[in-house]
Amino acid sequence: MIIAATAVVSCGPKGDPQLGKDSLDKVIAAMTIEEKAHLIIGTGMSGNTGDDPVIGMTQKIVPGAAGTTYPIERLGIPAIVLADGPAGLRINPTREGDDQTYYCTHFPIGTLLASTWNQELVESVGQSIGNEVLEYGADVLLAPALNIHRNPLCGRNFEYYSEDPVVSGKIAAAYIKGVQSNGVGTSVKHFAVNNQETNRMSNDAQVSPRAIREIYLKGFEIAVKDAAPWTVMSSYNYLNGTYTSESPELLTTILRDEWGFKGMVMTDWFGGTNTKAQMIAGNDMLQPGRPSQYTDLVELMTSGEIDMKVIDRNVKRILELILQSPKFKGYEYSNKPDLKAHADVTRQSATEGMVLLKNDANTLPLAAEVKNVAVFGNTTYNFIAGGTGSGNVNRAYTVSLLDGLKNAGYTVDESLKNTYMSHIAKEQARIDAAIDPNDIFAVFSPKPLPNEYQPSQKQLAEMVKKNDVALITIGRTSGEFLDRYVADFHLSEAENKLIKTVCDAFHAAGKKVAVVLNIGGAIETASWKAMPDAILCAWQAGQEGGNSVADVLKGNASPSGKLTMTFPVNFTDHGSSANFPIDEVANTNIINNVKTSFDRKNVDYTVYEEGIYVGYRWFDSNNVEVSYPFGYGLSYTTFEYSNPTIKAGKKETIVSVVVKNTGSYAGKEVVQLYVSAPKGNLDKPAQELKAFAKTAELQPGDSQMITFVVNNEDLASFDEAQSAWVVDAGTYQFHIGASSRDIKATLAADVKGSVKKAHNVLNLQK
Ligand code: BGC
Repeated sequence: MIIAATAVVSCGPKGDPQLGKDSLDKVIAAMTIEEKAHLIIGTGMSGNTGDDPVIGMTQKIVPGAAGTTYPIERLGIPAIVLADGPAGLRINPTREGDDQTYYCTHFPIGTLLASTWNQELVESVGQSIGNEVLEYGADVLLAPALNIHRNPLCGRNFEYYSEDPVVSGKIAAAYIKGVQSNGVGTSVKHFAVNNQETNRMSNDAQVSPRAIREIYLKGFEIAVKDAAPWTVMSSYNYLNGTYTSESPELLTTILRDEWGFKGMVMTDWFGGTNTKAQMIAGNDMLQPGRPSQYTDLVELMTSGEIDMKVIDRNVKRILELILQSPKFKGYEYSNKPDLKAHADVTRQSATEGMVLLKNDANTLPLAAEVKNVAVFGNTTYNFIAGGTGSGNVNRAYTVSLLDGLKNAGYTVDESLKNTYMSHIAKEQARIDAAIDPNDIFAVFSPKPLPNEYQPSQKQLAEMVKKNDVALITIGRTSGEFLDRYVADFHLSEAENKLIKTVCDAFHAAGKKVAVVLNIGGAIETASWKAMPDAILCAWQAGQEGGNSVADVLKGNASPSGKLTMTFPVNFTDHGSSANFPIDEVANTNIINNVKTSFDRKNVDYTVYEEGIYVGYRWFDSNNVEVSYPFGYGLSYTTFEYSNPTIKAGKKETIVSVVVKNTGSYAGKEVVQLYVSAPKGNLDKPAQELKAFAKTAELQPGDSQMITFVVNNEDLASFDEAQSAWVVDAGTYQFHIGASSRDIKATLAADVKGSVKKAHNVLNLQK
């Protein structure tokens, strides 16, 4: 009886059109104003209360997912589930009254994935992530995140890929393809120019249209055109005076008219303020939804203040999304993805994004005779899997470096273990006590763990005697809501001292020291890099981190990552550092959604004075010395580049080179192609990355030919005077490099000029 009653209710009154059976127009025509308003705003996010509480249904379908859409049973419209992203699926690991656990795999952070420069590998990681999305009952993953690393201090750089738009776009496209191959969606975020966390909901990014187009939108353009994400997430910030979620120029003129995007746009959570403007802009869905937006929408529709065609257009895009979803298709998810298989995927993929920064006298891989290892630094014990905030993943475990080394068969000197563990516990308790458990933002915020503990001279002397080698881990964590401080970019005095004392003691005994960086973005390395024998940038490598690092240290895998951002000598060397919220202004008013003030530099507004000169474009054009350049990374083996060729066609230039493994380990090499333009009317960077590729794993002595095809239109710059993409005619230099500062061959080709008109939009406000 009960089953029959439920069935009748869920079908709705007879005669109502049904999604999937009847045309979308028919379904929309049957919707009431209230139903349209509900569908547009989502169903809220539980756990968030206040003056304008969100409606709150997320807990019901997949607890811990970021949002759901509103179900309208009488029209056959199910609720679909939207969940974070990007290092894995973020849902609650446990459920009340339920013995089963719902842990997800914490894969490597975005920065590490990008550092692989391996699109195939990123696609396969995406496939595994998407499988967890599908099997845990979610429909859209709120990822990838591809804002540009404009400055090293952005708290969310760890989620993002690079200071370069081509790397960002290509890696994002691979990730999207992988996730979506499961029949679930992605949401490319945060569109666009969301490059700081400080006052992120009210900051006005003031950027030249040229920099917007060439730097901040280019990656999104590549991702949208190459991989067709189901959805795009608009960002929190203003861009040249308009909230991105309220900008028809961004969300319609550029995204849809110029790039041909066919999917749906949603806000970032609580983003923007003007519901009508968002609707008109083509920000189809407002997440997670709050009562005031519902009232706004009902009033706008009832009063006729908004054209119903606009609403229906947006509703149609939401329904098109629902139609493709696993939920609509009735997919019976298992709640049992193969976590073991995915642990293998994360373990292996992480090794490929690790960047070997220094390796004097082949310190790494550790020689076969190395058996006993001394370890120093908090994060050896407390290895950081990823960053904090919505990009965190509720994983079942994190393998520490200590355990990773032990698993790899090393005898790890644990004489400092108790001291480190009690230092860590004390610090953790202090930090936890400072956090207001009712404040979800505080709970999300990073918890830096000061690395103050120093071993005594006596302890050190004993450790030198007992061990073959020393490893020092330096860790950094950061995340949503907070930008990093300048002090976080530098090593602390205690960290410096630790490196010095350990190096002095081990070197005096003829033993080597390697530093492992467990970080999410660039840090200062110039002042201390001379001390250790080797430096491995392991990033935040996901839940298998310790095993992945041990695989690299032992030589089971040769690191083949290269930096996707510059490691500058000084923080202030960056073109953007003069206009980035640092220290005293940073992190003020971060979650305030309404402007109270307009005049605080880098808080209320940020002038992107450096224009297109972001990252290596700045350093190379101004001949600024760097600590480690963009594109840099060593291997356990060596590579030789030979036979460079170039062929200029009508529409494209084809460049090739042969790469040979000349060392004694198997390894992969990332090959980069930079282009310098001839002198024309526009100012140009010294060089810009236009293509990259990674070799297969080459055995010693093996070679591979790498071929790049660069379309002429990819050489265009955006000319604001004409609102057009302009390729200057002339001779272009094509540089084949192992990094931006290690060019192996330069070849020239003549390229025909062209002008492609674009819309005159997103201008700076006068
Ligand atoms: C973040 C997004 C995230 C959303 C939902 C926001 O605070 O900026 O990246 O997808 O929350 O959790």
